[in-house]
Amino acid sequence: MKNFIVFSFLSIFLIACGGDSSKKSTSARPKAKKAIKADDGKGVGEIKNVKLNNPLDEEMVKKGLAIYDTKCSACHKKSAKRVVGPGFKGVTERRKPEWTMNMITNTGAMLDKDPEAQKLLEECLTRMPNQNVSVEDARALLEFLYSNDAKG
Ligand code: HEC
Repeated sequence: MKNFIVFSFLSIFLIACGGDSSKKSTSARPKAKKAIKADDGKGVGEIKNVKLNNPLDEEMVKKGLAIYDTKCSACHKKSAKRVVGPGFKGVTERRKPEWTMNMITNTGAMLDKDPEAQKLLEECLTRMPNQNVSVEDARALLEFLYSNDAKG
């Protein structure tokens, strides 16, 4: 009888413990998942989803080229050759369109937080300045970059 009482006490204790810890782990799990957010390659910024044009929109390409000539060509060549920044050839294959547009419109935060942008900064040793490009103009620049990569 004495043994039975001890056993009952023990099992109540064990069940209570088990119940408690399982509650804790289920409520903690979703939080843990959120914390370990994998890099989706889209960069840091407001651009989350870009729809690409096929075929390319020639008006946008022209507009993008004009912006490139005035705001970007001092540091970026159309070829693969690096000057101050990387050459633009192949950039649309290296980067997701969202990443590229975030890099153009949200440069400072990208250089502070995005691992790929930080790697470039280590290679180039110059911080790309914020060029005050609107989202619409960045989209035109993206169209120009795709057109530049389509030319052999
Ligand atoms: C003063 C020089 C400078 C200007 C002007 C400049 N950039 Fe940059 N850009 C850089 C540098 C340097 C990097 C590499 C990252 C770093 O070190 O900051 C870079 C990186 C980039 C990248 C990533 C390239 C890759 O290979 O992944 C893109 C895209 C880009 N710039 C777009 C632009 C566009 C579009 C403009 C014009 C609106 C522009 N940049 C103007 C210096 C410049």
